[in-house]
Amino acid sequence: MKIQAVRGMQDLLPDRRERYRYIEDTARGVLHGHGYREIGLPLLESTGLFERLVGKTTDIVEKEMYTFDERGGDSVTLRPEGTAGCVRAALENGLLFNQTHRLWYSGAMFRYERPQKGRYRQFEQIGIECFGMTGPDIDVEILRIMHRILEELGVRDQVQLEINTMGDAASRAAYRDALVDFFAGRETELDEDSRRRLTTNPLRILDSKVESTRALVEAAPRLWDFVDQDSKDHFETLRRHLDRAQLPYVINPYIVRGLDYYNKTVFEFTTDALGAQGTVCGGGRYDGLVEELGGRATPAVGFAMGLDRLALLLEDRFEPQASADVYIASMGEDPRMAALLLADEIRAREPSLKVMVHCGDGKFKSQLKKADASGAMLALILGEDEVEGNRVTLKKLRVQSEQTSVDRAEIANHVQRFFATAN
Ligand code: HAM
Repeated sequence: MKIQAVRGMQDLLPDRRERYRYIEDTARGVLHGHGYREIGLPLLESTGLFERLVGKTTDIVEKEMYTFDERGGDSVTLRPEGTAGCVRAALENGLLFNQTHRLWYSGAMFRYERPQKGRYRQFEQIGIECFGMTGPDIDVEILRIMHRILEELGVRDQVQLEINTMGDAASRAAYRDALVDFFAGRETELDEDSRRRLTTNPLRILDSKVESTRALVEAAPRLWDFVDQDSKDHFETLRRHLDRAQLPYVINPYIVRGLDYYNKTVFEFTTDALGAQGTVCGGGRYDGLVEELGGRATPAVGFAMGLDRLALLLEDRFEPQASADVYIASMGEDPRMAALLLADEIRAREPSLKVMVHCGDGKFKSQLKKADASGAMLALILGEDEVEGNRVTLKKLRVQSEQTSVDRAEIANHVQRFFATAN
């Protein structure tokens, strides 16, 4: 039987991986500039963590987790998201006692979803989690951070910010009851998924994309009418801040998010450019989560962006990078050794340069073809004659020019000057 990648798991070939790296570097730069510190978290957590924090009746916990028993018999789960693990780590390591923290993480998450463009079973997120600040100033800060990252990536105009408020736990519970009352007796008009959610997670019905259900949702009670005054004030202040910062947004009363832990501010950055999987970033406040895990009440807010979706947005804007700047061709044992030493010398002189040494057989003609394909600007050629005469032959690859012969002692200087004037 032919063995292939597991469904929903992607190979990121170098051109694509470079795009991910570019997004990571951009995000890291912006986060660094705002005083955020990176935290490393395990891929594997106790299953109970997600059941307790993400919510037993969410799609994620009900049907999307990669869960298995360890040899000792404990149930563990490949993290489907990063917030629960970050809260656990912060609590377990005593970070939450009268302190504020601005943390970020990146890495793979796992959800057993139906794969399609922009939706995978292993996907990458960059997430941030802020602890100890009640907002809404910090809520605004993280929205501005995401805005800035999108701007630096050059996709700001393709993405819009949608915000909503969930109120506190009591408003949410009251709203839940109101929804159940409203849909009771109208079950037959609901699609199958929504009918199931009526008993498990009625708020998620608001997310339905099914036309007939959407029509019903339009007529359903509004979350805003159940939101407590404190949350309303919080939301209005947030809006004033956003207006002042000239950060455009729309209010979407149907954003409830797929995880159970949110209160007050919730938001998503969405795009029309990716079809059905248009949410590139989602987040909000989760002031009750630390307490839920046994800690002291600690205000918290965060978001996570999907690298796979951002990378799709960047697809046609990104020129694959050359794998080499300088390619060294050589033939024969001594010249090959000399080529390896020369490469190190150039790398030491100019660490930003990518210097590739031809390995394996091949006539100079085919080696130079490889040099050309590598994207290098310069080829250096070392044959027996060059080694004996203490010289290196140099060929500029991107312009019409003759080969030149350079003194071996001068070659590193020569290369350095070439790239200094080329840039
Ligand atoms: P989430 O909305 O479930 O939130 O995921 C955040 C982002 O991850 C989504 O907007 C999307 O871009 C990406 N994503 C999710 N599932 C997939 C998938 N199957 N394939 C590709 N990309 C995907 C969270 O995970 C929360 N932990 C965010 C958060 C942090 N809230 C507060 N702090």
